[in-house]
Amino acid sequence: MVRLLLVLACTLNAADSFIGSAACAPCHKRQFDSQSKTGHAHALAKSADHAQRAQWPLATTEARRAPNFRFRFDSLTARIDNGADVLAVPMEWAFGAGAQAVTFVSKADDKHHIEHYLTYYSKLRSFGPTPGQSKLKPANLAEAAGLLYRNADSQACFDCHSTGNELGVRCEACHGPGATHAASAGKTSIINPAKMTAGALNDYCGKCHRPPASDPAKIDWNFAWNVRHQPVYLSQSKCFIKSEGKLSCLTCHGPHEPLAQQAAHYDAKCVSCHQTKPKSCGPTNCANCHMPQVSPEPPLRFANHWIGVYKGGAALRPLR
Ligand code: HEC
Ligand code: HEC
Ligand code: HEC
Ligand code: HEC
Ligand code: HEC
Ligand code: HEC
Ligand code: HEC
Repeated sequence: MVRLLLVLACTLNAADSFIGSAACAPCHKRQFDSQSKTGHAHALAKSADHAQRAQWPLATTEARRAPNFRFRFDSLTARIDNGADVLAVPMEWAFGAGAQAVTFVSKADDKHHIEHYLTYYSKLRSFGPTPGQSKLKPANLAEAAGLLYRNADSQACFDCHSTGNELGVRCEACHGPGATHAASAGKTSIINPAKMTAGALNDYCGKCHRPPASDPAKIDWNFAWNVRHQPVYLSQSKCFIKSEGKLSCLTCHGPHEPLAQQAAHYDAKCVSCHQTKPKSCGPTNCANCHMPQVSPEPPLRFANHWIGVYKGGAALRPLR
């Protein structure tokens, strides 16, 4: 019995292998071409291959970190000195497509990865402290260089920003391993999230974007960083709850399209359910008032997916 199970497990394993997005392209060219332009596809790169690399002001950056550390770059190596010694840390991996930011991660030793202290902020076109690191007090060069993660923990960065052995969030991150489907020329099925309910999609996208809380009372709604977890917030909105399954991530975001930034794109979605609205509403840019931008740490900003009525200035929790 045990042996039979093992054989089954092996067959399943072989059937379930990742083949990479390039293998989907011949049959799904439209989805491939479009998905290749998204933030998802570029969520992780070797630093040398990052699309924004030419914009990084490597040669001219000189940054300080208290009490006495200085940062410079020598091509794609960070050089940290304290006036006496220099520590050189190569910038191996670049996390983030760079719509907002790119954070560098490198192997430190056999047991650890280091998240570099300096992150590139696209809107500022400059380097600044990586979120969460500016309040730490480094005692030596190694601590100044960045934050050490045990491999088991840093693996999480890679899990959310890559797909099998492929860099970035590609086809099989959402559709599951596709070897069998491809080998059968599409006759064997593959996961299609189109068939999921709105609630299931919150969890599905929430694998990486964070799923709704089982107990909303446990979420600190006043902590601005939480706003980046869209499924958590969307699940609280009356639009989501009262539309009974008609509102999901896919209502507003094409899964193979780059993030739409035109207000008109989203207005059309709101108006499809809200033919009438109070006089106090402006005619356009619904999201501006009802999904306000929250900046947990400038210049980063996130749209509050708890769609609601916000009182002037408040952006974390709606009035009702
Ligand atoms: C495997 C993890 C993962 C899954 C699953 C996932 N995402 Fe993402 N998503 C990310 C990461 C990482 C980013 C940041 C990409 C970057 O670097 O800009 C992102 C960014 C986005 C963006 C901004 C994209 C852009 O082009 O700037 C949208 C919109 C989005 N995700 C929606 C979704 C939706 C909807 C789903 C479910 C159908 C989903 N995501 C599933 C990891 C994931
Ligand atoms: C649980 C999944 C998850 C883990 C773990 C994770 N990320 Fe992300 N990351 C995301 C998602 C989803 C986004 C897009 C939404 C956002 O910006 O918060 C993102 C966005 C980013 C961005 C901003 C991209 C941009 O262009 O704006 C950077 C940089 C980043 N992650 C770096 C990291 C690093 C470094 C680690 C490990 C220390 C890490 N992430 C771990 C899911 C994850
Ligand atoms: C962020 C998650 C995500 C990623 C990454 C992703 N898809 Fe999809 N895909 C979806 C969702 C969700 C649907 C259902 C869309 C709908 O019905 O609105 C879908 C639908 C499809 C379909 C059915 C036809 C269609 O367009 O609705 C095909 C084919 C497909 N995806 C292929 C791909 C290929 C090829 C890639 C990689 C190049 C890819 N997908 C990457 C989430 C994703
Ligand atoms: C040799 C051609 C071929 C390759 C390679 C291929 N597909 Fe398909 N795929 C098809 C065909 C044909 C269909 C339509 C099947 C149908 O309509 O029932 C399909 C349907 C799909 C669907 C919709 C499934 C549904 O039940 O709605 C998704 C999603 C999908 N493919 C994703 C992928 C992904 C991801 C890859 C790469 C890992 C891939 N395909 C590789 C031929 C292919
Ligand atoms: C799938 C349909 C649907 C979509 C799309 C939708 N909503 Fe809603 N929305 C609803 C429903 C249903 C309610 C609850 C109405 C009620 O309580 O009778 C609601 C409630 C609201 C409320 C009142 C919230 C409260 O807490 O009292 C506002 C404001 C609102 N929506 C704005 C928007 C905006 C802005 C958009 C676009 C960004 C949008 N909605 C998209 C269905 C939707
Ligand atoms: C009612 C429309 C609507 C729905 C539903 C919706 N979004 Fe968004 N989303 C927006 C708007 C508006 C923006 C801001 C776009 C911009 O920056 O111009 C946005 C931005 C984003 C971003 C970029 C980072 C940020 O927070 O600004 C991500 C990632 C994202 N959405 C993921 C999701 C996920 C995952 C779901 C499902 C849980 C979802 N969205 C559901 C309207 C929506
Ligand atoms: C300038 C800010 C602003 C803009 C832009 C705006 N609204 Fe509103 N909206 C409000 C305010 C304030 C309220 C609550 C006051 C009230 O009920 O009269 C409200 C209330 C609502 C409600 C709740 C009505 C109810 O019965 O509780 C809905 C639905 C709504 N807006 C939809 C929209 C849609 C759709 C758009 C885009 C076409 C939009 N709003 C644009 C400020 C705005």
